[in-house]
Amino acid sequence: MAAPWSPKSWRSKPILQVPDYPDQEVLKDVERQLASYPPLVFAGEARDLKAQLAKVANGEGFLLQGGDCAESFAEHHGDNIRDFFRVFLQMAAVLTFAGGSPVTKIGRIAGQFAKPRSSPTEKKGDEELPSYRGDIINGTEFTPEARIPDPNRQLHAYRQSAATLNLIRAFATGGYADLDRVHQWTLGFVKDSPQGHDYQQIADRISEALAFMRACGVTPANTPQLRATDFHTSHEALLLGYEESLTRLDSTSGDHYATSGHMIWIGDRTRQPDHAHVEYARGIKNPLGLKCGPSLEPDGLLSLLDALNPDNEAGRMTLICRFGADKVGAHLPKLVKAVEREGRKVVWSCDPMHGNTISAATGYKTRPFDRILREVEAFFDVHRAEGTHAGGIHIEMTGQNVTECTGGATAISETDLSDRYHTHCDPRLNADQSLELAFLVAQHLRQERDASQSGTAVRAAS
Ligand code: PEP
Ligand code: CO
Repeated sequence: MAAPWSPKSWRSKPILQVPDYPDQEVLKDVERQLASYPPLVFAGEARDLKAQLAKVANGEGFLLQGGDCAESFAEHHGDNIRDFFRVFLQMAAVLTFAGGSPVTKIGRIAGQFAKPRSSPTEKKGDEELPSYRGDIINGTEFTPEARIPDPNRQLHAYRQSAATLNLIRAFATGGYADLDRVHQWTLGFVKDSPQGHDYQQIADRISEALAFMRACGVTPANTPQLRATDFHTSHEALLLGYEESLTRLDSTSGDHYATSGHMIWIGDRTRQPDHAHVEYARGIKNPLGLKCGPSLEPDGLLSLLDALNPDNEAGRMTLICRFGADKVGAHLPKLVKAVEREGRKVVWSCDPMHGNTISAATGYKTRPFDRILREVEAFFDVHRAEGTHAGGIHIEMTGQNVTECTGGATAISETDLSDRYHTHCDPRLNADQSLELAFLVAQHLRQERDASQSGTAVRAAS
């Protein structure tokens, strides 16, 4: 029998990555305020998302999860949200067409503020200061004042999340997600991209499919599914006081839900089974992500699944694998084999970002696009070999034309990085690189679909 759980039972467990708040009274007061505020999302939405993810776990669909590494207070503009959402919808349309099955869309947005750090301090010259831990905790400026954790930032993050979510909900249902329009944007990208000829075929086929539907009288004007979309939010549940304050008892089900976002995930640095982050996550009923890095062994993964999903409910767990292009081949197969052998129901998702970060000669942290692609390809190869479903991708991206990851069709070089390097934390794919990745993943989904259709045909004939 598992020990009793409550929204605050994590407080008695060991914990990593906690900010050192100088004034505990102010912190308590902020947490009290948050606990009295309206939830950001509703439990029923989290249940809908879990049902969608259950289908993905069963091989019927694909998960697209992405957004900023860290949202920031300074970049909180409607244009940024719109541009992200536009690229995300374009990616989803390409993937839906290629896979011939639904794409579950989850943003790293409206709550993705707290960052785990590899070192508690940062050094510049002779000066050493506490590390930046995300705008919900402290400031990026390299000054002693900015780096002091300030509880009031949690209230700011809550309000920013509410405003972001409000605009996204409006875009998702108010006509901005019109499929004809989304496809027109994609045609513009294909026309302008130096690699456009590689994507032309899929783009043309989508145009034909839309023209065919139009000819049959199915248009966004008369078909809500072509005009509106389904979108959910997610973030790393790192700052547990904030999460606890926004945990609510759902009156419909009698269960606790995190209402800070629809899905939350546990980071690779805070997934110790007897520690606080796992303790918090095990008791809430939202869909959960678990980051799986190179130090996770099959037995460790199985005990985490025991703790987090004892009933083996499909849709509850998404395993977000982030090994690095050179390590995925050595690490992923053993995890897939163990999970399959034990019959655990999970969504396998590939985060090709966090294992592929390098320092450019110019000092910038970057991620070469070809390594990102190699990890995604290896992920698909492993699942093909194991007969399992490559269920999704998890990426750090923006709708802006930034220069943070090298490579891609426009061949961003290490010296270009300084042009528009805006991230507050890890380097993100820019709009074009994100779409390129979607087209490349689309080719794999197409192959998976063709293979399963020919398998069905062979079975039907035999
Ligand atoms: C992240 O997703 O931004 C992150 C810190 O990931 P990980 O826990 O996998 O390192
Ligand atoms: Co990151």
